[in-house]
Amino acid sequence: MCGIVGYIGNRKVYPLLIKGLKRLEYRGYDSAGVAILNGGLEVFKKQGKVSELEDFVAAAKPHGTVGIGHTRWATHGEPNDANAHPHQSSNGDLAIIHNGIIENYSALKQDLLNKGHVFQSETDSEVLIHFIEEIQKMHDCDLEEAVRLALTKVVGAYAIIVISKQDPHQLIAARKGSPLVIGIGKDKNEFFIASDATPIIEYTNEVVYLNDNEIALLTQNELKIKSIEDVPTTPYIQILDMELQSIEKGGYDYFMLKEIFEQPNSIRDAMRGRLLARKNHVQLGGIHKYLQNLIDAPRIIIIGCGTSWHAGLVAEYIIEDVARIPVEVEYASEFRYRNPVINKGDAVIAISQSGETADTLAALELAKSHGATIYGVCNVVGSSIARASHEGAYIHAGPEIGVASTKAFTAQVVVLSLMGLMLAKHRKTISEHQLSEILLELERIPEKVEKALKSNAQIEYIADIFKDARNFLYLGRGYNFPVALEGALKLKEISYIHAEGYPAAEMKHGPIALIDEEMPVVVIATRDSSYDKIVSNIQEVKARKGKVIAIVSEGDTLIPTMVDHVIEVPMTHEMLMPLLSVIPLQLLSYHIALMRGCNVDQPRNLAKSVTVE
Ligand code: AGP
Ligand code: GLU
Repeated sequence: MCGIVGYIGNRKVYPLLIKGLKRLEYRGYDSAGVAILNGGLEVFKKQGKVSELEDFVAAAKPHGTVGIGHTRWATHGEPNDANAHPHQSSNGDLAIIHNGIIENYSALKQDLLNKGHVFQSETDSEVLIHFIEEIQKMHDCDLEEAVRLALTKVVGAYAIIVISKQDPHQLIAARKGSPLVIGIGKDKNEFFIASDATPIIEYTNEVVYLNDNEIALLTQNELKIKSIEDVPTTPYIQILDMELQSIEKGGYDYFMLKEIFEQPNSIRDAMRGRLLARKNHVQLGGIHKYLQNLIDAPRIIIIGCGTSWHAGLVAEYIIEDVARIPVEVEYASEFRYRNPVINKGDAVIAISQSGETADTLAALELAKSHGATIYGVCNVVGSSIARASHEGAYIHAGPEIGVASTKAFTAQVVVLSLMGLMLAKHRKTISEHQLSEILLELERIPEKVEKALKSNAQIEYIADIFKDARNFLYLGRGYNFPVALEGALKLKEISYIHAEGYPAAEMKHGPIALIDEEMPVVVIATRDSSYDKIVSNIQEVKARKGKVIAIVSEGDTLIPTMVDHVIEVPMTHEMLMPLLSVIPLQLLSYHIALMRGCNVDQPRNLAKSVTVE
């Protein structure tokens, strides 16, 4: 959460920081600020979006070529001007931007208050910069050493950049648990630094990912990295494979809509080189050394949060169905704190779009410490979860900027299906014929997604009818049950309508009491092995006058006679149906949110990557 950007070089830093913050705004957007060194130290910060900061700074147009910027996702203290970053030290010489949580801030603050420090904000971040100031005073050391010493006393997670009026030609950055990427300028006389690569790629593709417990000292011509224990390390330079175009809206009004429509391609990318349908073969290049552990695993535990957890549920059904390995799907946040049984041979699949979700990372580390083998399924290359895993498979969906996850979900399901089928083949739990049937179907999914997207105008029409509803129910069975959960989550998070996803048969154990003529019920009722059962569930809703929007398979003639609205998706193998049935639900939530005047890409209270517990 939160976006961090910094620069040192010859360019005008203010416009560069603003542009960077706009690219990072999807990570947090309750306030924004910049600090610029130009003889003095100028700090501007404002509650609201980056554009509001721009209006606020307007005339001042700060000069200078060294500076830092932040877009916040509040954890300590409400979003207001005072709590916005950067924060300054008592004497005003130092400024910090921080992502994460300083868990022992309260004890540190008390100590600093006793020493006479006065605080302007309620944040944990301001405490850290005062603490650094105090340490520098106490030890009479340089700033880098003060930062290092302070961090040895800090409990929690952070990515920080610190600047000082006294040393105007340097940036000091450090990380533990929150990502930071350093971009090396083409002429080796400038550096960029940010919480992800999006603000950097238009300037350079040479980057260094800072590791946990590392401190970087950046001057205009040099990058020095050391560990928090004061041991120098050699920066490992990587070449980024990302295009600027992929992080811009490309003619769409919102990233979310662009990402929904990108799915035929992102799905193709997720299976490229991995699905060899003609050879009846699946290969995941990233899983070879530990492949046998996965094949032999007595149990697979899948961990994730939100949409990634939903993809995990689909994977549970697939892996148990075709590979016959017992699977448990766990919310990472529960798993990590509930003393779970983890055995040495267990395989853990950690699913995360961002690869930075704090709970998923901690759950992964816990499983690893018990000897489980970890397979990461991430989108962001080089992310913390990808790096902490033994092996894994990237989903290759390309940057997902909309906070509501769409193309990452379908790409995750594709990769997890491939994983399940690969295991089934190795374990001989699937016949060659069955495998070939599914692989050939999987190959056709991108064109079927294209077809499903053609219902967009019809979905917009339906959205207009239901946009003022206060509640929604989503029902599905079997492979479509996780899709019901995902549809409900999408609606909740971007339109603020209360929605529940339920296994259709569970409805009669409670939620059916909610149904009346006011209640829209989205039923995912595609042709599969539970078709007849879900038809009965539709009858149950209709008998109580609920309004039914049914997602059906192309050519269904029965359900349209029973319900209020139908949206068709193409036929496919039931195991792959989530890849199609989720599409109309993504579009439905998009249109409803838009019609209700909500900011689709940046829903309130949320952030794209949740790097706090
Ligand atoms: C999805 O629309 C949500 N914004 C959210 O639930 C998300 O899936 C969750 O925070 C997990 O993120 P990750 O995949 O980056 O780990
Ligand atoms: N804990 C800090 C705050 O509340 C940083 C939050 C963030 O990551 O944006 O300001």
